Amino acid sequence: MADMPTDFWAGWIIVLTAVSVLGFCWLVFSIYFSANREEQEESPVWDETLSEGDNPAPMWWFWMTLAALVITVIYLMLYPGLGSFSGALKWSQHGRLDHSFARYDAKFSPLRKNILKRPISELQNNNAIMESAQRVFVQNCTACHGVDGKGQALAFPNLKDDDWQWGGTEEAITQTLMQGRQAAMIGWQDVIGEDGVSQVKNYVKTLASKSNIGANSGGKKIFQNNCAACHGLLGEGNQALGAPNLTDDIWLYGSSDDALHQTIASGRSGVMPAFGDRLDATQIRMLVALLMVEAESVVEVVSDTQENVVVNESTEDDAVLSEQISGEKIYEKYCLACHQSNGEGLPGVFPSLVGNETVLNEDASQHIDVILNGLKDKVIAGVIYPAPMPGFAAQLSDEEVAALVNHERSQWGNDAVKITSDAVTARR
Ligand code: HEC
Ligand code: HEC
Ligand code: HEC
Repeated sequence: MADMPTDFWAGWIIVLTAVSVLGFCWLVFSIYFSANREEQEESPVWDETLSEGDNPAPMWWFWMTLAALVITVIYLMLYPGLGSFSGALKWSQHGRLDHSFARYDAKFSPLRKNILKRPISELQNNNAIMESAQRVFVQNCTACHGVDGKGQALAFPNLKDDDWQWGGTEEAITQTLMQGRQAAMIGWQDVIGEDGVSQVKNYVKTLASKSNIGANSGGKKIFQNNCAACHGLLGEGNQALGAPNLTDDIWLYGSSDDALHQTIASGRSGVMPAFGDRLDATQIRMLVALLMVEAESVVEVVSDTQENVVVNESTEDDAVLSEQISGEKIYEKYCLACHQSNGEGLPGVFPSLVGNETVLNEDASQHIDVILNGLKDKVIAGVIYPAPMPGFAAQLSDEEVAALVNHERSQWGNDAVKITSDAVTARR
């Protein structure tokens, strides 16, 4: 009862309980031991044995009631019940829950720690762990990815091949599972027209079949101007944006003429939900190990002892810290695909950051918010853009966002107030 809203209500409940118990005592005692019991002896007799009266119940009933009262008082002394008084035994529901957790933890924490610490390849060689991973997969993932993880319905990707849209490294898959993924391939019908869609579609088909690349030069030009930013000049894709490799003949949405036409004309935006708050770190790591089984080539075999693993981790951190954070590099990695190297974007598709109001605004909070959380349906310099801008909060640290903001504020003729990483921390 520690969560009583105020002392007043706790006191109120104590008074109410005490008055009820005392009132009940008085009632019982007054019935059995009242002074005017004698008078009741003379109650009217209606008919031989039928007489009116209010004789008390037999004495065993009195003793039972008395025992119940004593138990009530003892209970209220030992357990919570009297307002915010927590009872002599300090029992609580939270306490019991904590106790169960502690028992669970004591039983499983060595195993869980082990799973978090051991290299992925070792987890993969442990049948018991892989079986648990399979169970977590069946409970959480099969609805979309199918019982065997091979995907389904031209909408949910096959997880058993080694073609990774968002990256097949341990870090990339962990991020996919923790934060989810939102793909943004806009529809191109309005930008390149029906004719353009069909030309570029034919070019994409030649990419996949690897036959006469370049034969279709109209489509190639459209591809280089509009699609290469995300899918790469050769169509090999970009895992940072989830833009699939178009040359491997593995298709998420199908390779028929109709499917390709729909993909290009109307766009696609697959959403992989985030599991970071539904599964714990151990479960995620087991799933990562399970998913990487098929992509063995990416698994680095680490045969170090545990101490060495710890040493490796700390040197890795130092390396990251000492590396100079460069806004330009981060821009190239995450933003250039859409906003282009000259910052001018693509007319009608991705807005220009040159002279952009948000970028030049003295108050940088909006600029920071766009990068952290993404943006959609905003009218920018009179244009509404068809696709949303993805958020990068999960990928970028506060220092990196600050470097990026300052880069955009000092490039391409832009000249605006710079910020520090504290400003980013404040907006997160
Ligand atoms: C802003 C980045 C971006 C641009 C520009 C872009 N795409 Fe995409 N494209 C994507 C993403 C992301 C996906 C994945 C969509 C999904 O998973 O729902 C995709 C998916 C596709 C697919 C489906 C692949 C499959 O496996 O089914 C095709 C085909 C495609 N794009 C062709 C094009 C063409 C042609 C253009 C140029 C006209 C283009 N894309 C421009 C980001 C982009
Ligand atoms: C509501 C349906 C749904 C559920 C449930 C779901 N996924 Fe996904 N998942 C998707 C979709 C859709 C995509 C493709 C996103 C895109 O188009 O980029 C995806 C993509 C992925 C990818 C990226 C594949 C690549 O090539 O990079 C991985 C890995 C993945 N899911 C694993 C899982 C795991 C593990 C679970 C269970 C914990 C799970 N998913 C549950 C719908 C789902
Ligand atoms: C997948 C394509 C894509 C990527 C990648 C991308 N953006 Fe954007 N960005 C957009 C789109 C689309 C808009 C317009 C969104 C809207 O309002 O509908 C936009 C808008 C913006 C704006 C203007 C906001 C305003 O209020 O005028 C800024 C600034 C910006 N992006 C910065 C970045 C930075 C920095 C990165 C890299 C971390 C980045 N973008 C990566 C597509 C992208």
